[in-house]
Amino acid sequence: RKRIRVHHLAEDKAAGRRTTMLTAYDALTARIFDQAGIDMLLVGDSLGNVVLGHETTIPVTLDELVVATRSVARATTRALVLADLPFGSYEASPQQAHASAVRLLKEGGAHAVKLEGGARVAEHVALLTGSGIPVFGHLGFTPQSENMLGGKRVQGRSDEAAERICEDAVALQEAGVVAVVLEMIPAPVAARVTEILRVPTIGIGAGSEVDGQVLVWTDMAGMGDWSPRFAKQFGQVGAALTRATQDYVAEVQAGTFPAREHQFDE
Ligand code: KIV
Ligand code: NA
Repeated sequence: RKRIRVHHLAEDKAAGRRTTMLTAYDALTARIFDQAGIDMLLVGDSLGNVVLGHETTIPVTLDELVVATRSVARATTRALVLADLPFGSYEASPQQAHASAVRLLKEGGAHAVKLEGGARVAEHVALLTGSGIPVFGHLGFTPQSENMLGGKRVQGRSDEAAERICEDAVALQEAGVVAVVLEMIPAPVAARVTEILRVPTIGIGAGSEVDGQVLVWTDMAGMGDWSPRFAKQFGQVGAALTRATQDYVAEVQAGTFPAREHQFDE
């Protein structure tokens, strides 16, 4: 596979191969993840809280995501580049969603877009899909609605709520999504959605009985000062960067950096 494409996701589901996804927001990290063999890079609107210093994803603009997407797309040769439609860029109408998605593809170089919600965005998904834009759904905890959901909470815990997630997943599939991200729902509910759907599910805080996994890269790599319970730190990048900075400061202050080999003698 030279470049991962959406039809590979369906092939992977049929073959029982798990798909891997990480977020990325710049060329620097995207190049590393791409070369390490990740299948998909999500230029998430988590850009807001992870990179831009906002508390939520709500303030993130389409312009900001276009810039981040372009940076990620430039640095990848194999991974499929998926870009989030940020809050306020698609909800009002299928036409608004189309105009925003077109920018992420034409200016950003994304291969697909993701939007939050179920039946309420089915028409949006259908218009995009019909226009040749692959769409990923996103159900369960949907951060753009956190003001309605009462904060960052596990969704789908009651029977009715679980049933609604299943119905929304089917509505998205019928509208044409290529995959559905399931965020922070009980593992048995995610397993049921995965069983019901033909298209793959990608979980985050949704257990292992899904078709693939996604994590925010800073949670995966131990970069931030906090990470959610469902994430695992596969490295301690933040601690390594802190130590490197402290050593640099100390050596400059002590006069041991730069040494002879770092200087130009003439
Ligand atoms: O923006 C993001 O990082 C996401 C993932 C958590 C799925 O949407
Ligand atoms: Na997102």
